[in-house]
Amino acid sequence: MKKVKIFADKNLAIGKIQPTLYGSFIEHLGRAVYEGIYEPGHPTADEDGFRGDVIGLIKELNVPIVRYPGGNFLSGYDWRDGVGPRDKRPTRLDLAWFSTETNEFGTDEFMKWCKKTGITPMMAVNMGTGTVKDAAQLVEYCNHAGGTAISDARRANGAEEPYNVRYWCIGNEMDGPWQIGHLSADDYGKKALEAAKVMRWTNGEFKEENGRTWGMQPLKLIVSGSSNHEMKTFPEWDRVVLEHTYPQVDYLSMHRYYMYDREDRDPLEDFLGSADDMNEYIGTLRATIEYVRAKVRSAKRVHISFDEWNIWTVNAPRSEPLWKKAPHLLEDVYTFQDALVFAGLMNTLLNNCDVVHIGCLAQLVNVIAPIMTEKGGGVFRQTSFYPFRYLANYATGETMRTFSDPDLFGTKYGSAREINESVTHDGARRSVCVSVCNYAQEDREAEIELRSFGDLRAVEYVEMTDPDLFAVNGFGKEKVVPHEKALPDVKDGSRVILRLPAMSWSFLRFTY
Ligand code: AHR
Repeated sequence: MKKVKIFADKNLAIGKIQPTLYGSFIEHLGRAVYEGIYEPGHPTADEDGFRGDVIGLIKELNVPIVRYPGGNFLSGYDWRDGVGPRDKRPTRLDLAWFSTETNEFGTDEFMKWCKKTGITPMMAVNMGTGTVKDAAQLVEYCNHAGGTAISDARRANGAEEPYNVRYWCIGNEMDGPWQIGHLSADDYGKKALEAAKVMRWTNGEFKEENGRTWGMQPLKLIVSGSSNHEMKTFPEWDRVVLEHTYPQVDYLSMHRYYMYDREDRDPLEDFLGSADDMNEYIGTLRATIEYVRAKVRSAKRVHISFDEWNIWTVNAPRSEPLWKKAPHLLEDVYTFQDALVFAGLMNTLLNNCDVVHIGCLAQLVNVIAPIMTEKGGGVFRQTSFYPFRYLANYATGETMRTFSDPDLFGTKYGSAREINESVTHDGARRSVCVSVCNYAQEDREAEIELRSFGDLRAVEYVEMTDPDLFAVNGFGKEKVVPHEKALPDVKDGSRVILRLPAMSWSFLRFTY
């Protein structure tokens, strides 16, 4: 059996893992909201119509922040349609997904849901059909205490206290011709700068000539970067947009979905190379941010909000009629193989935690999601649910730099590593976690050397592997799950030898 070495040292950290790295996303798309998080009359729904079974699974995942309300939906959305008495809210066409939006659920419902679930809201303002004024007034609706028409409307709608929303996305995928109101990089950059400035003013953020700053809780603003790195405009889009907006924004967004088409017999190697490709993509944007920072002579560091990432496999023709309310759309059922690639993507996010400060798994329920629901019925955990659950719950603190010597394999992106790992350390929890994917078609013996952490004791060891790469979970059958393994001996307080089955994900947790 081939051997591989993985080495990490307590003194060599990449950076701090922001809790917001484990965020997710709910869009008015398909059944993410309706029949997903919100289904009045469902046996587990509370007095607000929020599904309790779904909240239970979200808590299991330990998601700290959720982006809302889109997505492509955002660019045709008027937030005013979704507030106020329900019987007066208009029903509209949603041109992003050719659905009907009843607006039963809007900003106030989302804020209430966030409060109940302990989730931080990450709102988005419409830069497609929306104006700078619409954006600023949504900030006013959410964050201004009262005494103005807009803030008093919120109070009349039942929220006496402002929501104090800190995280705001300025538009969504504005580089994409599929976007309602798509713009060029220059036009978007100019509009985003004005939106950011006026949103900050509305929030009471103001800088005097002498540098004195008003506003105690500044907004954290996310400017819309490339939709993926196959866009012709990538990475020029990101440079231009950042050059316009750098002083006003805190994060550059990036999105990426990795696809595998079984019908088309896509090469498996390409799919297994996704994690390394994601690493390259982040690297390019990291360099672009640094370039612009130098060019605009700024001391400030802009970070990355990877606010849409996932596997997205179904490209089947739409089977639902146009203009249906809450149609079944993008309801991918993830395979074991998807979970394996997914775990590698999570390792990549962790290994770039110094620059990627926000991550949003897109999406959370029913739409390319780890949680699936049945109208009036049950829920199930997709295969991808598990790597997320383990890492979001335990891989906290700092990511450690790892050194490893795996073989490489060829992919359409270039070469990729057969072994893909991340090692994290949380001093406060006295915990070290190792997440390893073996993408080789044979078992590997891994020697994991974790120096300087003290005397490590293994406390958890789970493994996901399946002879059927296309095995899936479903309602009442969650068979693709991690299996507990016998805890390995820790030699000399820091070294373990593991057998990594071909095509497997392993997760090990130590304490000291
Ligand atoms: O998450 C699904 C869609 O993918 C989002 O609406 C859009 O932003 C992206 O293209």
